[in-house]
Amino acid sequence: MPAGSSPGYASPTRSRLIIMDAKTNIALELIDLEPELEDFRQAVVEGLSSSPQKTLPCKFFYDATGSALFDEICDLDEYYPTRTEINILRDCVSELGTLIGDNRLLVEYGSGSSVKIRILLDQLPLAAYMPIDISREHLQQSAQRIAEDYPELAVLPVCADYSQLTDLPVYQKNPGLRKVGFFPGSSIGNFTPEEAQHFLQNVARQLQPGDGFIVGVDLKKDPEILHAAYNDAKGVTAAFNLNLLSRINQELDAEIDPTAFNHEAAYNDSHGRVEMHLVSKTDQQIRLGDDQFELATDESIHTENSHKYDVDEFQQLADAAGLKPVKVWTDENHWFSIHYLER
Ligand code: AVJ
Repeated sequence: MPAGSSPGYASPTRSRLIIMDAKTNIALELIDLEPELEDFRQAVVEGLSSSPQKTLPCKFFYDATGSALFDEICDLDEYYPTRTEINILRDCVSELGTLIGDNRLLVEYGSGSSVKIRILLDQLPLAAYMPIDISREHLQQSAQRIAEDYPELAVLPVCADYSQLTDLPVYQKNPGLRKVGFFPGSSIGNFTPEEAQHFLQNVARQLQPGDGFIVGVDLKKDPEILHAAYNDAKGVTAAFNLNLLSRINQELDAEIDPTAFNHEAAYNDSHGRVEMHLVSKTDQQIRLGDDQFELATDESIHTENSHKYDVDEFQQLADAAGLKPVKVWTDENHWFSIHYLER
């Protein structure tokens, strides 16, 4: 094969990996656009230099430890979104199947939970599955398992930051395959409404007219329920938030004492979002490479937004981005919603 070409895809890529399972002989070709360490370093420097509010991007929560902590969060009594969304998905999947039609390419934006994707893979007659995820190792393992468990399905993993990805790689074996996007978990809540709009516009461009998009969106509710969900009694969310500092220490040349920070999460009513912060317990300096950053007592680093929407609020946002609301499902408490949108 000539350099730069591959049997499955045409796309600008940094590198290509072919993963072959010796036992099953399943070839998984992974497109690798994983952000590099330098991107991480730059983002951290930029965020800590930002004034008056220091920030760190939440997409860097998910190293191996962070991903494991997030899985633990999903099982917490207080963290209602995961189990609520799974229940809604189980209830609406056959209707989704009717809306979507057969023989589609399912594109998953951020491939976190295997429980959710398997509900779709089990019940929808799909031709191909393209998981997009920022963490190469996690993606490889989960794509491999799916390829083994669904031998008829073409599995096309793409390692990339979906928030930066403008065009999807073309599946050259079947370039005209109709698509359906899947973006569960209310990950869309990490974007501000403006960013969400921009992301959905991007998604709309990646789809053809008539293609569908399934998105899970956490709903506005009693702030006490939100507070509990992001301040769990076991402190798992706190550990998840603080792990970002440990990751910076491990991967970058940094000296930060995570025990000198408190986890803080609170609902910001005017923005309709839960904000997570790391709050400095003392006046301190943290070092990153040759740079020093000063933190005053009680000064915070803003690490995550988790926006909550009303159903019609979200539908308007999607509509304005070129994705027409077709159907929405919620649980009986109206805590979580799954929207089916159409380009
Ligand atoms: C995966 C972004 C949807 O915002 O609820 C969980 C991440 N942060 N607890 C969320 C998270 C704190 C989660 N999302």
